[in-house]
Amino acid sequence: MVKVLVLHGPNLNLLGEREPSVYGAMTLSEIDRRLGALARAEGASVDTFQSNHEGAIIDRLHASRGRYDAIVINPGALTHYSFALRDAIASISLPVIEVHLSNIHARDAFRHTSVVSPVAKGQIAGFGVHSYLLGLRAALALVAQGESARQPPPRAPRAARRRRAGAPRRKP
Ligand code: DQA
Repeated sequence: MVKVLVLHGPNLNLLGEREPSVYGAMTLSEIDRRLGALARAEGASVDTFQSNHEGAIIDRLHASRGRYDAIVINPGALTHYSFALRDAIASISLPVIEVHLSNIHARDAFRHTSVVSPVAKGQIAGFGVHSYLLGLRAALALVAQGESARQPPPRAPRAARRRRAGAPRRKP
């Protein structure tokens, strides 16, 4: 079964009460529920994760290697300045789709730049919850056309694997 990880960045936990004129009235749990329903309807599965901490999101990206086929991410404000997030995305071989609820290109000048876009497969912005749902559809389409082979993380060298399995050290 195709597995997609959806990551939500800082402040998205406050959706529903945060600037509803910009981000709408839908809560994050409702967005997650809609993503889950779409994934099920498509015969796929989705896990979601939100954090206000850059490092926690980067850790989840690293841990996604070998466990997911694709990633959908709304990096929140990290979009505009986090080179660490950009490098994390570039470091993993999974297809990553960047999504935004609002049309960042029609807002403050600082939101017009995404440091993530150059390493993402593409960006979907301005459609509210549909940005996420379109992002998930794009992820599933990419996987279906073979853009992601869920590769296990690289194996430890043979000697390390033998030791972990309890084998005695070989004489040099
Ligand atoms: C956002 C847009 C960002 O500029 C902002 O900092 C967010 C949300 C969006 O979904 O529209 O936190 O990513």
